[in-house]
Amino acid sequence: MQIFIDSANVKEIAKWVKYGIADGVTTNPSIMLKDGINDLEKGTKEIAAILEGRPVSVEVIADDPKEMLIQAREFSSWAKNIVIKIPIINQFGEPCLEIINTLEKEGIKVNTTAVLSFGQMALSAKAGTTYSSIFSGRVADEGGDPWQLVSASVNWLKSWGYKTQIIVGSIRSVIDIQNAALAGAHIITIPPQFLNKWIDHKYSRDTVKQFMDDAQKAFRSFRK
Ligand code: E4P
Repeated sequence: MQIFIDSANVKEIAKWVKYGIADGVTTNPSIMLKDGINDLEKGTKEIAAILEGRPVSVEVIADDPKEMLIQAREFSSWAKNIVIKIPIINQFGEPCLEIINTLEKEGIKVNTTAVLSFGQMALSAKAGTTYSSIFSGRVADEGGDPWQLVSASVNWLKSWGYKTQIIVGSIRSVIDIQNAALAGAHIITIPPQFLNKWIDHKYSRDTVKQFMDDAQKAFRSFRK
């Protein structure tokens, strides 16, 4: 299982790369806004450089198919490790499958985004997408079971030999990470605040403190 960082915060991304945890990064316009990136090209290039070849997803900002293709080709020229996020449908409900298919045929990797159902996932895979991003939190918002969806998707892709990898996004709490992992997600994209919580445990800190205190008492030559 891979871990992506769902963020445009350069400091946090660099930290998780240094820890050996970050296999990639996902962004979207809302994340860029939250993390103060107002120059898309400059921000994306900076993140791509930190990732040293690992994938960075950047989303097109258009409803028109022709404009989506123009942006996708331009964004993908910014660095070798750019993956283009294309929504499964645009805001008017028009399928973006042809765009996904065209870009993949051109050798541009696509992360199909805003996937909320099995049907959307299956169609994105048939269109040839490299990644299909299931938004677990948003599936649950609507009363759906995101973990059943992730598990069914991963099994279906495997049984028919699709190359598509499921990215689980829209992580809203620490337990979502575990649920996504146990549902068989190929990749989970995690906002840094939840990774910081996932590693921490008060009792671990207390345990380490106990060993440090006892070491001071036990070993005369112990250096402070
Ligand atoms: C994933 O690629 C998306 O960037 C993200 O996880 C969406 O999450 P949200 O539902 O919190 O906006």
